[in-house]
Amino acid sequence: MLKKKMLKALNKQINAEMYSSYLYLSMESYFQSVSLGGFAGWMRSQVQEELYHGMKFYDYVNERGGKVTLEAIDKPDADWKTPLEAFEHILEHEQMVTSLINSLMDLAAKEQDHATKIFLQWFVSEQVEEEASVGEVVDKLRLIQDNSSGLFFLDAELGKRTFTLPQKDD
Ligand code: FEO
Repeated sequence: MLKKKMLKALNKQINAEMYSSYLYLSMESYFQSVSLGGFAGWMRSQVQEELYHGMKFYDYVNERGGKVTLEAIDKPDADWKTPLEAFEHILEHEQMVTSLINSLMDLAAKEQDHATKIFLQWFVSEQVEEEASVGEVVDKLRLIQDNSSGLFFLDAELGKRTFTLPQKDD
C-alpha cells in the first residue's frame, strides 16, 4: 500500500507526463504549420512516449492499491519562432521533468518505499536518454543556423523516428 504523500506525488507525476504529451502535441502542430513533416513526426513519437510514461505511473499506482486522481492539464504554448526555440523549450522542459523524477526518488527514499524506488529507477535512466536525444537536436540546430538545406536534411533524419511500445520492464 502506498503512503499518502507518495500517492499524492505519483498522481502529480501522472499529470506532468500528460502535460508533456500535450506540449509535444502542440509542437507537432507547430511543425506541421511550417511544413516540417519530419520534425512533426518526431513529435508524434514523443507524444506517444509521454502517454506511455503517464500510463506507466497510472498502472503502478493501481498495482500498489492506490487510487489515481486526474487533474486538469495546463494549456501548452502553441507557437515558437524557430525550430531551435521549440527544441530549446523542450530541453528545458525535460530537465524540469528530470528534477521531478529526482524529487520523487528522494521522497521514496525518505518514506523507505523500496518498491517505488525500484519502479522509479526506469525513469531515472529514461530521463538521461530523453535529455540526450533532445540535446543532440539542439546542438544540430545551432550548427545549422539559417542554412535551409541543413534544416531539410535534419527534417528527413528526424522523420525516420518511430515509436514502438516498449516491452513490459523495458
Ligand atoms: Fe516523460 Fe519526457 O519525460
